This record gives sequence, C-alpha cells and structure tokens, in this order.
Amino acid sequence: MDSTYAMGGFDTLAIHAGQEPDPLTGAVVPPIYQVSTYAQDGVGGLRGGAATGPGRWIAGYEYSRTANPTRGALEECLAALEGGARALAFASGMAAEDCLLRTVLRPGDHVLIPHDAYGGTYRLFDKIFTAWGVTYQPVPVSDTAAVRAALAGSGAALIWVETPTNPLLSIADIGALAELARSAGALLAVDNTFASPYLQQPLALGADVVMHSTTKYLGGHSDVVGGALVVADAELGERLAFSQNATGSAGGPFDAWLTLRGIRTLGVRMDRHCANGARVADMLGSHPRVAGVYYPGLAAHPGHEVAAKQMRGFGGIVSFRHADGEQAALRTCGRTRLFTLGESLGGVESLIEHPGRMTHASVAGSPLEVPADLIRLSVGIESCDDLIEDLRAALG
Ligand SMILES: Cc1ncc(COP(=O)(O)O)c(C=O)c1O
Repeated sequence: MDSTYAMGGFDTLAIHAGQEPDPLTGAVVPPIYQVSTYAQDGVGGLRGGAATGPGRWIAGYEYSRTANPTRGALEECLAALEGGARALAFASGMAAEDCLLRTVLRPGDHVLIPHDAYGGTYRLFDKIFTAWGVTYQPVPVSDTAAVRAALAGSGAALIWVETPTNPLLSIADIGALAELARSAGALLAVDNTFASPYLQQPLALGADVVMHSTTKYLGGHSDVVGGALVVADAELGERLAFSQNATGSAGGPFDAWLTLRGIRTLGVRMDRHCANGARVADMLGSHPRVAGVYYPGLAAHPGHEVAAKQMRGFGGIVSFRHADGEQAALRTCGRTRLFTLGESLGGVESLIEHPGRMTHASVAGSPLEVPADLIRLSVGIESCDDLIEDLRAALG
C-alpha cells in the first residue's frame, strides 16, 4: 500500500484515501469530472495523474475510458481498503468478472467455481466462457479437502471463490485455499461482495484478486450499479487496466462518485447490518414456520469457526427455509411491508427475495439449483424491532 495510507485505520481510509481536497478549488469531496476528453500540453503532454490527482498509477488524463479523476479517486480508495497494489472500477460487478476472466484465462483453461455461486457468475461461465473453450467445475468451496481433490491433476488456472456465498452463506477458508492455489500454480479470486472489505480482506489472507459488486454494501444505498477488481500484484493490475481500456468496461464518473460517497460510511453501516442480521437470524431460528437458517454468525453454522477467524463480523444477509414449502415461501415474500420484495442486497433498506424464482433463476436445473422453499433477506439498518415485527407478521 502507498505509504500515504499506511497511517490510517479502516474508517480513516474510507473517508480520506484518494479523497484529498481538490487541488484546484479545495472542494472537500472529489468533484464529479463529467468529461470525456482532456486538453493536452502538446502532443502526448498529458496533464494531471498522480502528481495532482488521485491514482498513483495514472500517468495523466487523455480520455475517460482510459482514466478519469473521479473514477481514479474511487480506485485509490478501494485499493487502500482492500490493501491492494491496484484497483479498477467497472460499470457492474459482472463487467469486473468478465474483465478478469478474459485477462487471465485462455481457451482450454479450467476453473473451479463454488457449487453455490451467485447465479450470474455461474451463467457467465456456463453460457459465455464455455463457448470460448474455458471449462469449469462446481465444487463445494467450503470443503477444503474437496477443493484439493478437484484441483489435483485438473491443471486449473483459477479458483473462483465466493465467501459468504450467495444465497446459502457457505464459508470458504480463504487462507487454506490460497495455499492450495499457490501450490497448484493457480490464481485465487475472491468475490468479497457479501462481506465488504470492512468485514474481510482476502488479499491479506493470500488471495490474488478481490472482486466486488460495488452495487451492494460498498455503494450501500441501492442507487448505483458498479463493480471492482483489486489485486495484490501491480503487474496483474496493469494487464487488467489494459483489458479494461481495450474492451471499454469502466464505470462512469457519477457512478464512481456515488459509490465513493457510500464507502465513506461503510464501517458504521456494516456494524449495524451485522447487529440487525444477528438479531433477525436468532428470531428466525426459534420460529415455528422456519425449517432452517443460514447465517455464519450462528454457532451451529458449519462455517462459523472459519468465518469467526477471517471476518470481523458476520454481515447482514440471512437466508432461511420456510417449513411449509415453496408456495408458503412465495406468500411470505409478498407479505412483508418493511422488507421490500426485490433483487440485490447491501443497501440501507431491507429487502426480501425468493432466490429460486428471482436472483438464482438462471441456475434452475443445474448443479447449483437452490432450494425452492428458500428466502433471502438483506437486513438493512432500520430499527431492528420493526424488522422483526414485519417478519413475524409475514410468517404468520
Ligand atoms: C455475490 C455477487 N457477485 C457478483 C454480482 C454481480 O454484480 P452486478 O449485479 O453489480 O453486476 C452479484 C449481484 O447480485 C452478487 O451478488
């Protein structure tokens, strides 16, 4: 990490990294540079860059697909929060995943993916990358021995991990998988969307790449779609930046600004998400209409110990199974008043959804299919008594 940021605790970095007062006006938050192109001081004479703006890796500004000061401020902040050598901000989480896969994989390569990955990630491998000759194998990434067995002799170039997973909240041991990946000569990429860098920092545990849907906790207000990659190795960062510029998947300046605004309060929001998530999980655990609760903070969760070792808190996503089956689960999703029925997660407001029919419809009929009676909650930061009351009423 740049020594400028070595001084900061997490919340200090969230508020200051990449966000020095604007050198021109003193504006205390980075301005929205809503601009496509930049005046040059003679041919090839680029202005700005690390000398006057955020982004120590930016040589200067020529065109906003390549670099933009507002996006640079976000990237600098993300690199500081994840302890990475470089970060890149994208138009969506899927754009970030696509950029990583196209940069590090070639036709004939093999990848291990979680057997309960986010549906869109599965679809990217299954429908897009297989057509380009990349093969994949779903494995239970919470079972290190199963990953070791799948890796042996597979020649896998990449292990893709989500932890906690969406929507079943399984926990992978990032440190153990990093060792496996290293000894097999594979890269380890961790989708850190559910935890956010406040709760978990995969690079410090040995991962090579962190990926985020910044749409979720980092943005935090359900008002912007975005994605990010953060890498430990500056050279890989350079290759990713080349791909991002070559394929044009960067996010726009206003989106970067909104994401950065959300990040400033990430720590305090996450503390409340964790507290509310734990109370909701406890209530569901003792409710007669609930057949099982998935929350890594529960002592009975199979990944609890690993989660406690590698996470600062257990987050705000709670999934559970309705004791009366799919139809009852669907009715419950339609009955809440504070929990809004909707996809996505990680915003200040609580959301409820039915993964089988909504976010994970794309994995129906695949090895990643989710239980039909499953409900996923994104527990927001409202008054928790109100949230519990709402769920109790909806469960009946
Ligand atoms: C765990 C996870 N990874 C990746 C994504 C994709 O991100 P985006 O929707 O920003 O493209 C999502 C979206 O829900 C997600 O939940």
